[in-house]
Amino acid sequence: MTGRICGTGFCVPHRVMDNEELARMVETSDEWIRERTGIAKRRIITEETTVSMAAEAAKQALADAGIAAEQVELIMTATISSNVILPCAACEVQKEIGALSAACFDINAACCGFLTAYQTAQAYIEAGIYQTILIIGSESLSKLTDWKDRGTCILFGDGAGAAVLKAGEGEGFRSILHSDGGRGEALTCSGKHWKSGEDDTGFMKMDGREVFQFAVKRVPEVIREVLELNHCSLEEIDYFVVHQANRRIIESVARRLGTDVQKFPMNLQDYGNTSSASIPILLAELRRNGTLKKGDRILMAGFGAGLSWGAGIADWGI
Ligand code: UT7
Repeated sequence: MTGRICGTGFCVPHRVMDNEELARMVETSDEWIRERTGIAKRRIITEETTVSMAAEAAKQALADAGIAAEQVELIMTATISSNVILPCAACEVQKEIGALSAACFDINAACCGFLTAYQTAQAYIEAGIYQTILIIGSESLSKLTDWKDRGTCILFGDGAGAAVLKAGEGEGFRSILHSDGGRGEALTCSGKHWKSGEDDTGFMKMDGREVFQFAVKRVPEVIREVLELNHCSLEEIDYFVVHQANRRIIESVARRLGTDVQKFPMNLQDYGNTSSASIPILLAELRRNGTLKKGDRILMAGFGAGLSWGAGIADWGI
C-alpha cells in the first residue's frame, strides 16, 4: 500500500502587500527585494486566520479529490503559527470542515512541515493504520514578523495549502528528512507567549546568509539522496517543487543539479515565503492551472528552521 495525492487546495489572504509598501516601512526598495529574493508581493492576514485558511484549503482539496469530510481518518496540520496553543489547529480544522471521524494533530517542523506531514501520512498508510489522510500547511507568519527588521520582514507571507492522500495499491516512494539542531540559532522564534528576556521581541530572527548557504548545499544533496533511495534518475522528474523562500536559492539548486530551471516552478514572487504552506500552495496552483498532468513525477524539497531539510517524491494523479 502507498499513499497517493488525489486532491489539492489552497487559500491565501485577500490583502496584498507589495514591495513598495514595505519600502515605506523599512529602509529597502522594490529593486533590492526583487533582485535578492525574487519576491514582488505577499499576502497578509486581516480577518483570516491560520485555521480559517487551513479549513478553506482543506475543503478545496477534499472537493478536488471527491472525498467527503466524514471519510477523512487523520488530519495533520503543519504550522508554526496556529491561532492558539490549545486546541491544535488540526482539531479546529476538523470542527470547521466536519471531519468528525478524524484523529488530529499538528506538526511543528517549520518550512519542512508539509514534507514531514507527507512522510508521516505515507508511514501511516503503509502500516495499514489509515487509508484517507488530509495534510495541511498553514501559516500566519505576519504575526511572528518583526516589521522593523528589513532582513526578515521582506521575505515572509501568509497562506495555506492542503492535500488529500488516499491508500492505493503498489509500492510508493520513500521520503527523507534531516535535522541539525546544532545550527538552530540561524533561524529562531521564541514566540510571544514564551518571552524569555528583556530584549526578546518574540519575533522570528534569522541569519539570512547562513540559512542561504545551508540551503544551497543541503537541498541538492537531499534531492540526489532521495532519488538514489528510490532508484529514480534526475531526468525522470518532471517538476521540482522546492520550498519557496528565495529565487536565487532555487536557481542555485537547479544549477548545482545541472537541471533546467524551467523544471522548478515558482510562485514566491506572489506570496513570499509561507513556510510550511509554500509547497502545498504551489502544488495546488500547478494543479489548478493545468501544469501538472496525470503521470507527472514530482519531487518536493524543503529546508528551514531546525535547521531541517528533506525531500519526497510523488507520482501525480496515479
Ligand atoms: O524558509 C527558510 C527561511 N529563510 C531563507 O530561506 C532565507 C535565506 N536567506 C536569504 O534569502 C538572503 O540571505 C536574504 C534575502 C535574507 C538576504 O540577502 P543576502 O543577499 O544574503 O544579503 P545579506 O544579508 O548578505 O546583506 C547584504 C547587504 C547588507 O548590507 P552591507 O552590510 O553589505 O552594507 C544588508 O544590510 O544588504 C543589506 N540588506 C538590505 N538592503 C536593502 C539586508 N536586507 C536588506 C533589505 N533591503 N531588505
